[in-house]
Amino acid sequence: MSSQLKFYYKNATHEIIGDEHGLSLDELESHSSAIATIIDQINEDTQAGKLMYRKLPENIEMADRAKQLADKIRDRCDNLVVLGIGGSALGLIALQTALNHPFYNLLDKAQRRAPRLFVMDNVDPVQFAGLLDLLTGQLDRTVFNVISKSGETAETASQFLIVRNMIREKLGEDKLADHIVVTTDAKSGTLRKIADNDGYKSLEVPAGVGGRFSVLSHVGLFPAAVCNIDIYELLKGADDMNKRVSNNKLFENPAALFALIQFLFYQKGKPMSVFMPYSYQLKDLSDWFRQLWAESLGKNKTLDGNDVLIGPTPIKALGTTDQHSQVQLYREGPNDKVITFLEVEKFDKTTPIPNELADVDSISYLGGKSLAQLINNEKVATEYALAESHRPTLTILFPEISEHPVGQFIMMLEVATSVAGRLFNIDAYNQPAVELGKKATFALMGRAGYEDLKADLTPFIKRDEKFLV
Ligand code: PA5
Repeated sequence: MSSQLKFYYKNATHEIIGDEHGLSLDELESHSSAIATIIDQINEDTQAGKLMYRKLPENIEMADRAKQLADKIRDRCDNLVVLGIGGSALGLIALQTALNHPFYNLLDKAQRRAPRLFVMDNVDPVQFAGLLDLLTGQLDRTVFNVISKSGETAETASQFLIVRNMIREKLGEDKLADHIVVTTDAKSGTLRKIADNDGYKSLEVPAGVGGRFSVLSHVGLFPAAVCNIDIYELLKGADDMNKRVSNNKLFENPAALFALIQFLFYQKGKPMSVFMPYSYQLKDLSDWFRQLWAESLGKNKTLDGNDVLIGPTPIKALGTTDQHSQVQLYREGPNDKVITFLEVEKFDKTTPIPNELADVDSISYLGGKSLAQLINNEKVATEYALAESHRPTLTILFPEISEHPVGQFIMMLEVATSVAGRLFNIDAYNQPAVELGKKATFALMGRAGYEDLKADLTPFIKRDEKFLV
């Protein structure tokens, strides 16, 4: 069995789904020289230090720092609580779901051999109060990892203020540094200043690495290392993929093929991109991809400054669960989607189905098979059913779920995002549209300097009774 991640795209071709909806190899081939130029440009940008996320896998010193600090805190805490949002949370959640026990937090400590992990990526007051309740009596065995590149995101900042106050009041000011690890910009930002001032242990979001491209930096590596994920194998997988996706030959480069196929379907009236892992372990990689694809590609200006409205809509689904929820729509609703399955060739556990109730014909055929067989056969069945309805599907094949292929997957999708950005001719690395909402929050929460926005917000603060039923 090869340990390489593979990408299968035949079920998106006209051979399988017909001429009207399928792509032809000639059509793909006709873009191969444009793709070669894009890949060369991306490689040059990487060499010139403009795409720092691609440099992360070779930064072993960075991994060593995460590992050393993780080794120090692992035994002295029972809970690691991450405070972070967006790119400062989604990648590390995905790593934990993929690479640790599905019921990790419920295991007893001897089985876990590491603290429980809680990732607080929202400011729901009831949820956060629930966490604080849970930590009552355990605060002295809890470490908080505050992750924020900018250091002033309102959600993370408010959680941090609550936690800092709680530690000070319950354990004492002199204990703050034992219970807080900060991951932020190396030099600038509010959190960096506070960390230096309060003397917290700190890690870095490297310069030039945007939040949604930061999972292979300390952002993802530190919590993963605390939870005993092998971060070196993860980086090795990413590094191996980095080499594969440096290849400027379209048909040998899975990131380029994935990006091109998504781009062509978008042009042909399929702007919806569904990600559907047939594996619970891979389910949170859909959330991670959803942010990567949406924030990177949803833009209203081309690189030359022209007005456009660009953006494929990433949608998450889970096999087999969503066969019983979404597939009706995917087969008979608008033919506006391309569906990417994630499939696992060899599951860690197959979970046999016993020959129970062998005399009940309608279910006895399941006896002697396994859940691994069932889930993979259901994937094939769905692939076939979608093809019968002329719906394009793609498959990313994991040889198994372990650090190496997960690292490959992350780098493949990150580079695919860079390639797609070039194909759509937009800047894949900024997120200007997120800013207005952040500023409006500052204004509503009374931050100095944002008073001017208050007037524009008035009709939203005070509801018009005429429209209230
Ligand atoms: O990808 C991004 O840049 C964003 O999703 C950020 O990660 C998110 O807004 C959180 O920002 P910060 O890490 O600065 O708190």
